[in-house]
Amino acid sequence: MCGIVGYAGGRDVIPVLLGGLSKLEYRGYDSAGVAVVCEGGLIVRKTKGRLDGLRRLVEDCSVADTAGIGHTRWATHGEPSFENSHPHTNCAGDIAVVHNGIIENYLKLKDWLRSEGAVFVSDTDTEVVAHLINYHYRGDLLEAVSKTLPRLEGSYALGVVSSKHPGLIIAARKDSPLVIGAGSGENLIASDIPALLEYTRDVYFLRDGDVAALTRDEIAIYDSYGARARREAYHVDWDVSQAERGGFEHFMIKEIHEEPKAMADTFSPRYRDGHIDISETGIDERLVANIKKINIIACGTAYHAGMVGKYVIEELARIPVEVEVASEFRYRRPIIEPGQLVLIISQSGETADTLAAMREAKQKGAKIAAIVNVVGSSISREADAVFYTHAGPEIAVASTKAYNTQLMAIYMIAVEIARMAGRLEPGAYERLASGLSGLPDLIKKVLETKNVIQRLASGYFSKNSVFFIGRGLDYVLSMEASLKLKEISYIHSEAYAAGELKHGTIALIEKGTLVVAIATQERLLEKTASNIKEVKARGAHVLAVCFEGNKMLENLADEVIYLPKTDDIFAPILAVTPMQLFAYYMAVEKGCDVDKPRNLAKSVTVE
Ligand code: G6P
Repeated sequence: MCGIVGYAGGRDVIPVLLGGLSKLEYRGYDSAGVAVVCEGGLIVRKTKGRLDGLRRLVEDCSVADTAGIGHTRWATHGEPSFENSHPHTNCAGDIAVVHNGIIENYLKLKDWLRSEGAVFVSDTDTEVVAHLINYHYRGDLLEAVSKTLPRLEGSYALGVVSSKHPGLIIAARKDSPLVIGAGSGENLIASDIPALLEYTRDVYFLRDGDVAALTRDEIAIYDSYGARARREAYHVDWDVSQAERGGFEHFMIKEIHEEPKAMADTFSPRYRDGHIDISETGIDERLVANIKKINIIACGTAYHAGMVGKYVIEELARIPVEVEVASEFRYRRPIIEPGQLVLIISQSGETADTLAAMREAKQKGAKIAAIVNVVGSSISREADAVFYTHAGPEIAVASTKAYNTQLMAIYMIAVEIARMAGRLEPGAYERLASGLSGLPDLIKKVLETKNVIQRLASGYFSKNSVFFIGRGLDYVLSMEASLKLKEISYIHSEAYAAGELKHGTIALIEKGTLVVAIATQERLLEKTASNIKEVKARGAHVLAVCFEGNKMLENLADEVIYLPKTDDIFAPILAVTPMQLFAYYMAVEKGCDVDKPRNLAKSVTVE
């Protein structure tokens, strides 16, 4: 989704803006632009395509001691083009705006502004904001923006500059992320922290409805009533290098290698002397007392983590769990009883559908627990209890380490809920807790087999279609394995419950079709083996994923990826890493842009 940066300070502004935008490239974009206040007015340069094009356009510009804003656009209203790229300006060209989100009532506003004499040059919803600010402008930019905001329906993070106010940026947010960076003699805004880290580690998260005025020496934040507001400062404790590739060819492979550490960072601070303690998250006896049902809501990879949660919570705690994608939940008039527990899962904590679904559930009286990676994000601020995964920044669009840590969190929550509900057999708690503590080291072992997976991918990457099959937890994992492959390699793939194949999908299996059969669950092995035989009989090439020492699979499959042995219930955590590596190497072999797959965005802040 769109990325915003803004800078007010003494440096040459354009390189700061370009540097910041490059740190936001991972969000996905199709055009880019900047607006900088200079002596003669506003310099606005923008272009369809990547940042390199913009870089060439601004080679002749050098303006220090002023303010500027920059933007990477992910098209929603209007195709990627010069006209539709941000920043957008008013007719006089003295006010420039960058925006992330969607102004839902823009057509109505556009008609009205036209009747007031405004001339529009783009198809975007954003352009109305520039004209509205112009309409309300009476010499005070903050006042003009503040008068504009109540007229906007929808979501926005905004950055505004004007040639009449050199050195000033006005920023505002509602339902789209925006962070303020507090530097020394310079202040910044950005959609995400990595864009600020070169200049400061001290940030403020704006709340919905906030407006801020930034100059090089001051940050003034106002709430939606116009009162001066104090917002908690947050010191970023992760290193800038964590948001850089550090010698790896792509962020994705770097982040897969970070999984053992990320998982340990999720688990270890909450594990003492053989006991899991998650009370600091707010998920405690009071929150889970008397719960009869749990709803899990999420999108994308986080939804798949939720599916694992269903199997594991139901297995261990014997409490029914319903899992739903957020975009369905929010529009389905869901039945939520007051006091019911709703578990939200989101890496970014900003996904628009997930946030809206959470608010819907909260409004119906649910208690909200959230598993979130990004500290201070909207979901984390609004939930009743927050389990931070501490995975560190995840830059690649395809989620990897964040997923592994979401699973660690879910297993810890499942074990704790089962313990509190008194549903664990004697000895089970200790076995599960110690099993979890050993997982980061087992992932290290899995990573040692990456050459095997790379070799397999080099033989398979020209396939047009791949099927992932499994039963129980293996089926749930298949869904994530399939999504990963689709996202980054653009190879069509489907995940199927192995027992369901014969009800339709098996018609697609022909000689040479690649079927990845995940078979880690001992009690379902015979059943999955029968399904493997069914596809083999129709000519499929089978790649099996199973625990080491599984002779049955070795004899049945054409190729096998082995996992180090652990308790069956933990298999989805161990098996996902080879599947991520598989998708990665397939995409690399195909020459795809692994970290920035086409049409996708890391943080989906629009519906
Ligand atoms: C986007 C990303 C996915 C992610 C999903 C949910 O679609 O491309 O990788 O799983 O959003 O994001 P969240 O931040 O809520 O986990």
